[in-house]
Amino acid sequence: MYKKMVAVAFLLAVSLPGWSADMANGQRINKSCALCHGAHGQGASGKLSPRIAGLPKEYIIKTMKDYVEGRRVYPLMVRTSQIDKFTERDFEDVATYLASLDLSSDAMFDIQASFGDAAAGRKIYKSDCRTCHNKDGYGRPRKEAPPLAGQHAAYLYTTMRGFAEGHRVHANDDEDDTFEDYKDNDFINLTAYLATLDDARIVEGYAFEAPVYRASLARKPQTELDDSIQITDIKQTVVRMALEDGVTTDMAEEAMIAKAEEIGLKKVAQQKVSKFLARQDVKMPHLSIFQFCNPLDARLMVMADPVFSSYMPCRISMVEDANGKLWLMMLNLDMLINSKLLPNEVVETAIRVNQQMLDVMTAGAAGKT
Ligand code: HEC
Ligand code: HEC
Repeated sequence: MYKKMVAVAFLLAVSLPGWSADMANGQRINKSCALCHGAHGQGASGKLSPRIAGLPKEYIIKTMKDYVEGRRVYPLMVRTSQIDKFTERDFEDVATYLASLDLSSDAMFDIQASFGDAAAGRKIYKSDCRTCHNKDGYGRPRKEAPPLAGQHAAYLYTTMRGFAEGHRVHANDDEDDTFEDYKDNDFINLTAYLATLDDARIVEGYAFEAPVYRASLARKPQTELDDSIQITDIKQTVVRMALEDGVTTDMAEEAMIAKAEEIGLKKVAQQKVSKFLARQDVKMPHLSIFQFCNPLDARLMVMADPVFSSYMPCRISMVEDANGKLWLMMLNLDMLINSKLLPNEVVETAIRVNQQMLDVMTAGAAGKT
């Protein structure tokens, strides 16, 4: 009997990493991360979306706090996922969930780099990086050094340049001079070598399956987070953001249009539904719909699959709820981002468009660009 209990306890500890975390809550929170990092934290090959699946839990938590506290800078992420409002438990839950997603054996998620001299990169790695990031490139928790294997090449390259230029502190050490003497070619070669490291873990025929966690009934589904941004699972996923206090519909409209122009999105239409009806003496809460498009992105997606035209143009609606509160809402392009079968450049475009639309929404909600 005793033996059996030990065996069960052991199994639990192994099969449920971080069993004290609420995986359902982690999975729920991850829906907002998925806007930019993909449903499984897989990231995209562009520099704007690192892979976060399978990173150590401690590193994910530390990093999120770095963004909140300004040691690393990416305000759109803080704003979109509201990580500055997370409880310790939220950090723990989402980090445990993401850390549990191991994509490294699935060839579909293999990192590749089509440039550089991997052999030259290997030399540098062996002499300057291996002690901390480990022989296999999967990091050393004791040194707080994260995995570099399995990380997207463009992100690694940009990040290393950032270390050299002082935009980000490497090795948690202001005095660190690891990257000072490297030339651009060294970064390219290192990146090429790092892209080979995940090959060792690939298991032929293995296909990653995302786990599904059911929320326990004991935990109430609504937290204070849900008040200002919410990703709702209806048939398609919707992202919504409340207008900040004091921001009028005119201010939001102006800010959104200015932001869109700034980042090269074309405003192709605007329907003032409630104003239109008001002229016919029909009353309703505020509703206006803004449509944006980047013709080159539209081209790429429609060539990949005509079905994506149903998402076009990208829309943001400004809508008033029964309590008079104003919201901005849009469809998440998650179907595009999260389909493993789509070509890389389509996923990357979808993530970028999502980020641009979020940028426009964020400007609208704040009433300023
Ligand atoms: C608006 C897009 C966006 C959203 C939403 C977002 N992220 Fe990020 N995230 C990024 C970008 C872009 C970076 C890289 C920024 C940089 O270069 O420092 C990043 C970086 C990270 C990193 C650091 C990765 C590394 O290897 O150091 C972690 C961890 C992370 N995000 C976790 C999350 C989690 C967890 C969520 C959801 C709670 C989330 N992100 C939501 C865009 C986003
Ligand atoms: C003294 C230990 C140490 C050495 C040596 C070291 N690193 Fe790091 N590295 C770290 C630590 C710690 C971090 C995490 C920093 C943080 O938390 O922001 C890191 C982070 C990184 C990151 C960012 C990863 C991410 O996901 O954002 C890259 C890229 C990186 N190192 C590359 C290298 C390369 C290439 C070398 C060799 C040229 C190297 N490191 C040598 C400790 C080290």
